[in-house]
Amino acid sequence: MNIRLIESPWHAIPCDALLVPLFRDDDFKSGLACEMDQRLEGLLSELRENGEWKGRPGDLNIIYRPSALPAKRLILLGAGSRKECDCSAIRTLIMNAVHQFKNYSLNRFAVVRRSDVDPALAAQAAVEGVVLGTFDIDEYKTIGRSKTRIEEILFASEQPIPAQQVEKALKRGEITAQATNLARALVNEPANRVKPIQLAEKAREIGERFGMEVEILEEPQLEDLGMNALTAVARGSDEPARFIVLKHHGGNHAAPPIVFIGKGITFDSGGLSLKPPQSMEEMKTDKAGGCAVLAAMQAIAQLQLPRNVVGIIPAAENLPSGRAQRPGDVVRSISGKTIEVLNTDAEGRLILADAIGFAKQLNPVYMVDIATLTGACVVALGKVRAGAFCNNDALFEKVSKASEISGEKLWRMPLDEEYGKKLESNIADIKNVGGRWGAACIAAKFIEFFVDDTPWCHLDIAGVDLYEENPVVEGPTGFGVRTLTELASL
Ligand code: BES
Ligand code: ZN
Ligand code: ZN
Repeated sequence: MNIRLIESPWHAIPCDALLVPLFRDDDFKSGLACEMDQRLEGLLSELRENGEWKGRPGDLNIIYRPSALPAKRLILLGAGSRKECDCSAIRTLIMNAVHQFKNYSLNRFAVVRRSDVDPALAAQAAVEGVVLGTFDIDEYKTIGRSKTRIEEILFASEQPIPAQQVEKALKRGEITAQATNLARALVNEPANRVKPIQLAEKAREIGERFGMEVEILEEPQLEDLGMNALTAVARGSDEPARFIVLKHHGGNHAAPPIVFIGKGITFDSGGLSLKPPQSMEEMKTDKAGGCAVLAAMQAIAQLQLPRNVVGIIPAAENLPSGRAQRPGDVVRSISGKTIEVLNTDAEGRLILADAIGFAKQLNPVYMVDIATLTGACVVALGKVRAGAFCNNDALFEKVSKASEISGEKLWRMPLDEEYGKKLESNIADIKNVGGRWGAACIAAKFIEFFVDDTPWCHLDIAGVDLYEENPVVEGPTGFGVRTLTELASL
């Protein structure tokens, strides 16, 4: 895709579509809205007066072949009040708008910046919006597949902006949004197509393409290393586990890395602690954390961030069978700590325990894990924010800052000792479930048990991995890709 800053004024851009945000508080008496109203001979005032333009956030009016402009279409996008139009609003408004133009041929798409947001951040968010808007989940439709083709994005501004900075931001937005779309596409892949082996193949392909070191451990090696919590989860399936490690060497040779770990359960049936059918329906998406890490690593490598970053994805399929692990089994993780597995549906924390044990051997500066871990987190925070559990305030500051830039909302959750008490086992070091109340916090305490005191943050994305509150866009969100990428940049 060709994405660039265009310095011509908004009314002199030849394109297939010119997208202009209009604010609720635009009075058409000054600024761009006024100028536009005049150029279009009072059309905006007319639309507003007769009620066709309401200016609610997300409202769209399309004006074809506006006679005063070289653009084939003028798209007016309701953007709420100017003051409230932040990066996140820009990204989502544009994404939703572009998504509704599927099947239009909009090869050359121009966006006019009007908000008061920092120009570079606004540029990044706008490009992200366009690129995210072109994604669709209909890969497997043979009839009526949508085709949004945008080949060129032009970014123009109401006021003058620093060109170099903005151009860099445009490129960055393209990279982060394409990575997000990669995660969305992978999460969307059904479990009969993407199993641990295919996820590992994809990781190898991406690693090689973007110059990362790739290491993929198979079951005999996992057993040699003592990663029995991971292999125990995979045992019920005919599909073998994979342990995927991607390394971006952007920093000093000897500098300790930051580590991102993503849960890669390609299908979660619950195992012998079988899920009811309804709860199982979306469990191909239980690899969303792993896909987010893979895609973030792609973006980090493409951006050539100047530090060492390791991405780890423990991948397995959780199925019941005559070989499956049973409730009551005890397994020894790579750290040497033993786990009593009382519920085989609490499998995410098992594979994360081994991944964290492995990661600690790399002496990381900090670790972040991301996982569709608990239904309880969805109960607590709904489908709006991810739960963030963190044992280090300075790290949480950073995660929080990254999340503000990415627009992926999260909320800090507690790690009190009392939650951990629920995990005391009579026969092993810890058990993998601790009752119903506060189960997201208990799950986080389980992971923390394997972290000890390395700075660590756990993101429970069970509620935010799919668009469910968005009226326009559906399917996977790719949550975490941009937050991890921003975090690695801080
Ligand atoms: N993958 C699920 C969590 C999940 C639930 C993700 C809903 C997305 C939507 C996880 O492996 C799981 O089954 N967790 C159990 C844990 C329980 C057995 C302690 C849960 O949350 O019910
Ligand atoms: Zn489960
Ligand atoms: Zn799961």
